[in-house]
Amino acid sequence: MNTAVLPPVSELEPEVLQQIDDCVERWSDQEGNLIMILHEIQNHHGYVPRESSLLLAEKTGVPLARIYEVLTFYHYFRLVAQGKHHITVCNGTACYLKGSARLLGELESRLGIKEGETTEDRLFHLETVRCIGCCGMSPALVVDETTVGKVATTEVAGIIEKIRIQEDTHE
Ligand code: FES
Repeated sequence: MNTAVLPPVSELEPEVLQQIDDCVERWSDQEGNLIMILHEIQNHHGYVPRESSLLLAEKTGVPLARIYEVLTFYHYFRLVAQGKHHITVCNGTACYLKGSARLLGELESRLGIKEGETTEDRLFHLETVRCIGCCGMSPALVVDETTVGKVATTEVAGIIEKIRIQEDTHE
């Protein structure tokens, strides 16, 4: 048990407490339950918050170190909350040959983050992927759910700005 580092239960969000209780109960007798519980936590929050891991360790008796071993072994799991808007740069061969590295560089510089990171205001998350299957549109980006093809480096600022304006008008 890892109670030494666990904040008092009363300080945890009721929603977190309830979710862990539900998951543990649902998966308690099943093989591979730790992974399934972690999947549920990530599906719920978009990542696996540290407080969820701490509580999970307490509820299941699985050492916290083991939980983090699993979380860091599988690249699927995320340990920090990501930005609201995801920009994914295709880094496959066709896109690379058409300048995806320049697009990535422009995005990194304009957003002030590196690939795999999230802006401080949690508005943008930047990542790369290998081939999204639209090689004829290279270089390509995926902005949230939308694929944008034949992107010029000079268009990057406008893509970011458009999202910022949308966010401002929704506030
Ligand atoms: S390499 Fe980018 S879409 Fe295929």
